[in-house]
Amino acid sequence: MYISNDLDVYKQPLSPADAKALGPAGADAAAAFLETRSHHAETPLHRLKRLAMAHCVDEVYVKDEGRRLGLGSFKALGGAYAVVRLVMDQAERQLGRPVGLSDLAATEVRNIAAGMTVVCATDGNHGKSVALGARQMGARAVVLLHEGVSDARVQAIADLGARIVRVAGNYDDSVSEANRLADERGWVVVSDTSWPGYEYIPTLVMQGYTILLREALRQMPQAPTHVFVQAGVGGIAAAVAAYMLERYGNARPAVVVVEPQGAACLFESAQKGRAVKAVASAPTIMSMLECYEPSMIAWRILSRAADGFMTVADEEAAQAMNLLARPADGDVPVVAGESGAAGMAGFIQAVGDEGLRRRLGLDAGARILIINTEGATDPGRFRELVGLSPEAVRDGNRNAHAREEEHNE
Ligand SMILES: Cc1ncc(COP(=O)(O)O)c(C=O)c1O
Repeated sequence: MYISNDLDVYKQPLSPADAKALGPAGADAAAAFLETRSHHAETPLHRLKRLAMAHCVDEVYVKDEGRRLGLGSFKALGGAYAVVRLVMDQAERQLGRPVGLSDLAATEVRNIAAGMTVVCATDGNHGKSVALGARQMGARAVVLLHEGVSDARVQAIADLGARIVRVAGNYDDSVSEANRLADERGWVVVSDTSWPGYEYIPTLVMQGYTILLREALRQMPQAPTHVFVQAGVGGIAAAVAAYMLERYGNARPAVVVVEPQGAACLFESAQKGRAVKAVASAPTIMSMLECYEPSMIAWRILSRAADGFMTVADEEAAQAMNLLARPADGDVPVVAGESGAAGMAGFIQAVGDEGLRRRLGLDAGARILIINTEGATDPGRFRELVGLSPEAVRDGNRNAHAREEEHNE
């Protein structure tokens, strides 16, 4: 674990633009959009009391994004929101007047959307979100997927109406190809990662993620003292760090960023004190987190507002999936995918290490927030790693809820 107190760059305020976009006001703005979506429902927050007791902390909460907007991951909040905002921007430019939420269904706005093509590279979940946003507005979506993405994930994106382009190489190669195609054909790149000169759209994507934090904090009786959050390019981790800093100031929870051992670009950047590209190594089962270059905005925020950076091994992620799926009696079973369980894996590693417990203050007063960022988006893989189908775990979940309600009556 790399604890960031040691670096001078840390604990600086955010830039005013990041603070505005990702603080409570930005989250409220994004949440207003979500309420216009047809199948919108809050995701559950599970209180794992037995797990907390077993590890001598006060509370462990899991915000369960496994069913967000029917897409299976928190990413449903980001790309789709950015696409809707981009259509509104374009409509304002073309119509020469402000366009608000109530105009989204207007024929003149939909005609403008029909002339737009959005393109993105993805490991899976972001592409689904962009495809969903395009479908909602009647725009076209083209989604680029690298060769490591499973056919099941590709099909799920195609089912949302996007045109699929397969790209040789890894995620970073698909990002380059998306940019090339956009330049050539005048399409709009909707990326969840950012680079110099490309900030507006990924900021919108991250602003969409803050909705889940706004919800989680409303669902929790008391604010958390620690958040363990997994990272690919760092978008969700930075949204967490920025939102918490803007909402709670110096009383904010400690934010610990968790990455796979073989793809830890933020961990390496933290060690070096500047954004660095990690060397690509063997694939990880946490495929949604397999990114080798931090998002520029995410690093800018995390370098100021994260408290620790750590890595977890594939076995630890698989153990965390099992722990969530088969909890101690009394706790609710949770369906978490390989990447979804990484935050839990980070917590289990940290709380089991005496030195880290002390340095992070994981004591009897600690209230931990973990985000299950995805459910079993690849059900075959889930069965292989957990030995149960996602449905069997969900049945257990329903039974556990029923027992909990009986107990409360
Ligand atoms: C399920 C899941 N968890 C976590 C992440 C990491 O998000 P980010 O790349 O914004 O760090 C992703 C990214 O695709 C994901 O799909």
